[in-house]
Formats: sequence, structure tokens, C-alpha cells
Amino acid sequence: MGKKLWGAVVGLVVVAAAGGGVVYLRVHGLSARAKPSALEVWVARRVRDLATPSSVRDAANPVRPTELVLAEARDHFADHCAVCHGNRGDGKTMLGEGMFPPPPDLRGPATQGLTDGEIMNIIRNGIRFTGMPGFGGSDEDNWKLTHFIRHLPKLSEEERTLMNEINSLEGKPNEHAH
Ligand code: HEC
Repeated sequence: MGKKLWGAVVGLVVVAAAGGGVVYLRVHGLSARAKPSALEVWVARRVRDLATPSSVRDAANPVRPTELVLAEARDHFADHCAVCHGNRGDGKTMLGEGMFPPPPDLRGPATQGLTDGEIMNIIRNGIRFTGMPGFGGSDEDNWKLTHFIRHLPKLSEEERTLMNEINSLEGKPNEHAH
């Protein structure tokens, strides 16, 4: 008798939970254009933290950030990364704004608070379940890009113009010349 009652209670709970899930989906949908909730952002970052071994986190950037290295990385970023992240790194691009999760502002504290090793690891391997691809690439190139991510908060107008000459993301370079 008791068994039957428990069975009914468990059955009800399962139905209620499934119903709740359906209601959540009906209300929030699975649109990639929605903004992730603070909880989703927090959980995703925690999971990423847990998945990153300390040897990766603590690795130091072996490449010296000379002007040439930064210029190379800037061109590389303009060519391969800016479609999603924008020349400024703010993520305000047609692709970036339609993604879930969207690319974060790479100049902000969340990204700049990562270690060099973490940034390099993200560039090499990508982030699963997101639009961030793993680029593979040579370690050297990935370390150079890491320097450029650090440089983004200080990007000059002149540098942006050079990037735009590569990708025309902000309009054709000579569009306003007359
Ligand atoms: C197709 C779109 C796309 C391209 C191309 C792309 N990214 Fe991303 N990137 C993303 C998205 C989306 C995220 C956010 C993933 C997340 O929320 O976990 C991201 C996250 C990152 C992060 C982590 C930022 C943080 O605070 O967690 C770094 C660093 C990064 N990208 C660097 C690069 C570099 C360097 C390149 C070029 C070699 C690149 N990305 C190319 C979409 C892209």
C-alpha cells in the first residue's frame, strides 16, 4: 500500500519537473539570439576553470612582445578572429551578436583576468558547445595572439584602420575618400 503511494508521489514529481522544463522552453525557447543569464555565464566559466589543468593555467608566454610580433598577431586577428570578435574585440559584429553564448568583450575584466596560459589554451582548443572554434595552429602563433588579446584595451585608431584594410568589417577603406 505504502509502495503504491510512493509510486504516485514520485510519478507526480517527475511529471511536474518535465512540465516545468516544457514551460521553461516554451517561455524562453532555444533561440541563439537570447542573452545568457548570469547563472549560465557563471556555471560555464566554472566548468571551464575545472577543465583547465594548472600546468596550462600557469604556463608563461615564451614569446617576446616586440612590435613586429604584435603587428603580425594583429593581422592574424583581423583575418581570422574579427568576424566574430570585431576589430576592437568588443564582439559587436553581425555574427557575434547572433551567437549563444555571444563572444564577450575581450577588453573586459572577464577575459583580461584570465592567465596567458588560459587564453592561449582557448585559442588553440576552442570552447566546446560555443561558437569559439579551436584553431590548432602553431603554439608560437597562439602565444602571439595572446599578446594581442592583452593589447586590445590599448588598440589605437591607426591600428584599427590597418585592420579594416584587411577585413573591411567597418566599411570599405576608401568609401569615404571623396
Ligand atoms: C565563429 C566565431 C568566432 C571566431 C572566428 C573566433 N571566436 Fe573567439 N569566441 C567566440 C565565442 C562565441 C566566444 C565565447 C565562448 C564562451 O562564452 O564560452 C569566444 C571566446 C573567445 C575567448 C575567451 C574569452 C573569455 O573571456 O572567455 C578568446 C580569448 C577568444 N575567443 C579569442 C579568439 C581568437 C584569438 C580568435 C582568432 C584566432 C577567435 N577567438 C576566433 C567566437 C569566435
